[in-house]
Amino acid sequence: MSKTAISFRTVKPKVKIAPSVLGVDYGDLNHHLQQLESFSDLFHVDVMDGNFVPNLSIGAMVVDKMKTTVPLDCHLMINHPHEYVEAFAKAGAHAITIHAEASKNLKEDIEKIRSLGCLAGVSINPKTSVSKIEKVLPLVDSVLIMSVEPGFGGQAFMPEVLPKIREIRDKYPDLDIAIDGGITDKTAPLAREAGANVFVAGSYILKADDPKEAAELLRKSVGG
Ligand code: DX5
Ligand code: ZN
Repeated sequence: MSKTAISFRTVKPKVKIAPSVLGVDYGDLNHHLQQLESFSDLFHVDVMDGNFVPNLSIGAMVVDKMKTTVPLDCHLMINHPHEYVEAFAKAGAHAITIHAEASKNLKEDIEKIRSLGCLAGVSINPKTSVSKIEKVLPLVDSVLIMSVEPGFGGQAFMPEVLPKIREIRDKYPDLDIAIDGGITDKTAPLAREAGANVFVAGSYILKADDPKEAAELLRKSVGG
C-alpha cells in the first residue's frame, strides 16, 4: 500500500469517479459520453438556471437525450427545484441532487425525489454550514459538498470546506459524500482524507489530452 493510501481514514463507501459532463461536446453528446463510459462510475450532470447561479446550462430535455449505461446524477443548481424534479426523473436521472439554499422545503423535496424512484442528494455551497442540512442527512442517499462557488467549471478548489466533510463522515460512515469543484489528483486526496468517496471532476478529466488517463490518475490518487 502506498504512503498516501495509509493516511486515508477508513471510509466504507466505495470510491466513485464522476466526470462532470458540463464540458462535453453537446453537438455530439452521446458519442462523447460513450468515450467516457469505461472509466466513469457516474456522470455528474450540471443543471444551471441563470438565477440560483450566474450561468445557464442544460435542462431535462437534454438529459432525456443522453443515452448511456452510466448512471446520471443531476446536480440541480436551480431555484424552485421541486417544480423540476419530476421532469428530470422522467428524463432518466438515476439520482437528483438539490441545493439546500435553493429549496424552501428541503425535507419534502427530498421525499418527492425518492417517491419518483430516484436517489436523493443534497448539496451545500462553500459558505453554507452543515447545520443547514443536519435534519435531512438521515433521509438522503448522498451529500454534495461544493468546493467552489457553483456556476462555472475550472475554478480553484477551496480547502476550507474540508472540515464539513469530516463533520458529516464522523456521523454517517456509510453515506456517499461527494466533492465538487476544482478536483484534481492533488486536491482529491485532501477530500478523501477528510472522508469523501465520490469525486466530481470537470476540467481535470474533460480538458485532459487523455481523459481516461486523467480519470485513472484521479482514482489512484484517492486509493480507489
Ligand atoms: C460547478 C459545477 C461543477 C463543475 C466542476 O458549478 O457544479 O460540477 O462542472 O468543474 P471543475 O471540475 O472544472 O471545477
Ligand atoms: Zn456540479
